[in-house]
Amino acid sequence: MSLSNDRKIHSLRISTEDLIKNVYPFYDDIRSINPIYKGSFFNYPGWYVTGYEEASFMLKDVRFQTRLPLPETTRKYQNLKKVLNEMMLYKNPPDHHRLRKLVSERFTSRALEALYPYIEEQAYELLKHVTNQKKLNVISEFAFPLASTVIAKLLGVPEEDKEQFREWALTLIQTIDLTRSEEELVTGDKNIVEMVSYFRKLIRKRKQDPKNDIISLLLDESEEELVSTCVLLLIAGHETTVNLIANSIYCLVTNPNQLHQLSENPSLIEAAIEECLRCESPTQLTARVASEKVKIGSSVINKGDQVYVIIGAANRDPRRFRDPHVFDVSRKPNSHLSFGTGVHFCLGSTLARVEAKLAIQAFLKNTPALEFDVATVDWRHLVGFRALKELPLVVK
Ligand code: HEM
Repeated sequence: MSLSNDRKIHSLRISTEDLIKNVYPFYDDIRSINPIYKGSFFNYPGWYVTGYEEASFMLKDVRFQTRLPLPETTRKYQNLKKVLNEMMLYKNPPDHHRLRKLVSERFTSRALEALYPYIEEQAYELLKHVTNQKKLNVISEFAFPLASTVIAKLLGVPEEDKEQFREWALTLIQTIDLTRSEEELVTGDKNIVEMVSYFRKLIRKRKQDPKNDIISLLLDESEEELVSTCVLLLIAGHETTVNLIANSIYCLVTNPNQLHQLSENPSLIEAAIEECLRCESPTQLTARVASEKVKIGSSVINKGDQVYVIIGAANRDPRRFRDPHVFDVSRKPNSHLSFGTGVHFCLGSTLARVEAKLAIQAFLKNTPALEFDVATVDWRHLVGFRALKELPLVVK
């Protein structure tokens, strides 16, 4: 993969494997050339935004509209396109506002409060056997079952189907990543048909017997929008939250002095979660398209240009964060962009923060000293997301 600057000042080459292993020096390199860098990355030409102020400005500016996940010109992957294009994530106002308003009442701190004891109980339950087993596979035995149980309960989907959701989530995430291959898009297109039929059946059931869940709340809406909202919530509530919990544990076990500081001073838990979010943001990149010509600093972005906002790079911009590569559980202020900003600011941020907090508290209280062999770290083949394949820990 090569990245060349507009004015051919620099030409950067890095293998995808190196990028996935440790992307942060690369972000620093392109930021040092220009925080709004014009180039082509994985054959996606556009503006790569690595500066904090610039990223924040663009995400808040209505002249940068959400970019459709798949080009309108392609006739392929129609099933996938149909569902993705109906998601609030890919809509602009006023449709965006209408869709978001339908579900936002279920994601306020007040509405979520009743769920907290359940999350805590589940977290403790999942960690019960660690001491005897002397090991923990953080993703498969803890983060994934916890996050999937919570979103399933909220949405109103049977928890027993969680392995199926996991498989769908893994393939769908791949279809919106810049590394996506033709084959992955074909699989995604096939899986989305299964997901739609799954949700249609569930919606029919709820119409006959409504419950106090999100699906029942939306029964008056068009079935297409309702299905797309369900798919979005299931995937977002699943995938990124699993990664938030696992990445947080990864940050702590690979920085034992910070883990120690947090264990000694549990009141740092909220600040510690924010630092995990900043340092290893589960969402690394989001995209927009300019709806008109915009001049920012020395960059002139033309109507129709693609903009890739690299959240993971903005979070480590030295102009915003002191010692940006240092993981510091007491860092304050810590205004990272891991949940985005502007009208698309993550709807699930309150829930995700609480889930991570309760998960890490349970982890600190209920597991013996565990360690991780850093040499075995294996990240998934994604650039828009930061996701470990697994995080195997063993008792010291
Ligand atoms: C319970 C878990 C979660 C749920 C239900 C959820 C749901 C959503 C939804 C529905 C949106 C679209 C909002 C809109 O378009 O107005 C969104 C956006 C977003 N979410 Fe989440 N999310 C969750 C967890 C997370 C986590 C853990 C992260 C990463 C730290 C994250 C990062 C983002 C980002 C960056 C956006 C904005 C994308 C953009 O501006 O293009 N989400 N989320």
